[in-house]
Amino acid sequence: MLIKKPDDIKSSEITPHSIYTKRREFLQGAGLIAGAAVLPNFASAQSGDALKARAPAGIQSSPAPAWLKGKFSSIRPAPDSAPYFTDEALTPYSDVTKYNNFYEFGMEKGDPSANSGQFKTDPWSVEISGEVSKPGVYTLEDILKPHDLEERIYRLRCVEAWSMVIPWIGFPLADLIKRFEPTSKAKYVEFETIVDDATMPGIRSRFAIVRWPYREGLRMDEALNPLSFIAVGLYGEHLPAQNGAPMRLVVPWKYGFKSIKSIVKINFRETQPNTTWVDLQAREYGFYANVNPAVHHPRWRQDMERRLPQTLFDRKVIPTQPFNGYGEQVAELYKGMDLSRYY
Ligand code: MTE
Repeated sequence: MLIKKPDDIKSSEITPHSIYTKRREFLQGAGLIAGAAVLPNFASAQSGDALKARAPAGIQSSPAPAWLKGKFSSIRPAPDSAPYFTDEALTPYSDVTKYNNFYEFGMEKGDPSANSGQFKTDPWSVEISGEVSKPGVYTLEDILKPHDLEERIYRLRCVEAWSMVIPWIGFPLADLIKRFEPTSKAKYVEFETIVDDATMPGIRSRFAIVRWPYREGLRMDEALNPLSFIAVGLYGEHLPAQNGAPMRLVVPWKYGFKSIKSIVKINFRETQPNTTWVDLQAREYGFYANVNPAVHHPRWRQDMERRLPQTLFDRKVIPTQPFNGYGEQVAELYKGMDLSRYY
C-alpha cells in the first residue's frame, strides 16, 4: 500500500519494531523523507488583521484569477471556540505545504510541492451529475461565487499516524450541495480528482498502483454535516497546488485520505461509491475511515499520533481522539453501527 509511515519519527514510539520492519519490507525500499523542519510557530493573529492565521511574510501566493483574489479580501475569521477552532499550536505553513500526500505528483512527502509547478488551475470546471435536479458542468467561478469564505482551524489526522493543525479557508460543503438540489435518491456523494498526465508526474509513473482518477465518497448525511468543508485556501492564501488547488474536501473527523484534492467531479448516487483506497486494499482502508483509536490498522496502531512538526527534543506523540476530537458533532451519525466492521 502506498500510504507510508515517515522514518523521521522513531517508530518504536508508536509501533512495535517487528511490525515496522515488516512495513518497510512491504514498501520495498521506497525512499522515505528526511525529518520535518524545526520551525517556530509564526502563525498568530496580527494587529489589524482579523484572521487567526496568516502565511508568513514573503510567501508568494499561488496564482489565482482576479475574481478569486477578490473573494479572499473578505474572509470571516474562525470563532474562538470549538469545533471550528482549536487553540492547539498550528502546524507551520512550511510543513503544511511541503509535507504532503498527493500521489498524482509522486509518492514522497516532498514530491507534491516539488513537482506541481506546471499544474494549471485556471480555467477549471466541476461536473455535477447523478441524482440532482441541476446537473451540469460549472466553471469554478460559478461554483464558488455565491459562497462567503470563512476560516476554520481543524486537526488533520492521517491514517499514517501523523497529524497537523491547519487553518483552512473555504465554506461548508452542505451549502454547495444544496444549490444543486439533490433528489430523494441521493444517498451518497462521490468526488473525483483531475487527471492531467501532462502536469502530474505521479500519473505517468510506471510505479503508480492507484487506478486514476483518485476517488472518494461520503454518505449524504456526512456530507451535509456542518463540519464537512470545501477548502480553497489555507493560512489566508489561495490553496497551493500541492494542497489540492483550486478546491478540495476537508472532513476533519475522518482519516486524511477522505479529504480529496483538486476536485473536478461531484456525483450524487443511490449506492455507495467505490473509492480509491478501498479498491486498493479493502482490508486496510474502509469507506468510513473515521478516526478511531480503538480500531487499529492491520499493520500499525491507531491510538497515538505524531503531531507535526516534531523536534529532536519534543517527539510530540499524543493520544488519538475518537473521531479526531469531533465526536460531539458526528458520533450520532454512526449510532448503532459496529465501527470495527465499518472502519
Ligand atoms: N487527494 C488526491 N487527489 N490524491 C492524494 O494522493 N492524499 C490524501 C488526501 N487527498 C490524496 C488526496 C491523503 S492520504 C491525505 S493524508 C491528505 O490528502 C493530505 O492532505 P495535505 O497534503 O494537504 O496535508
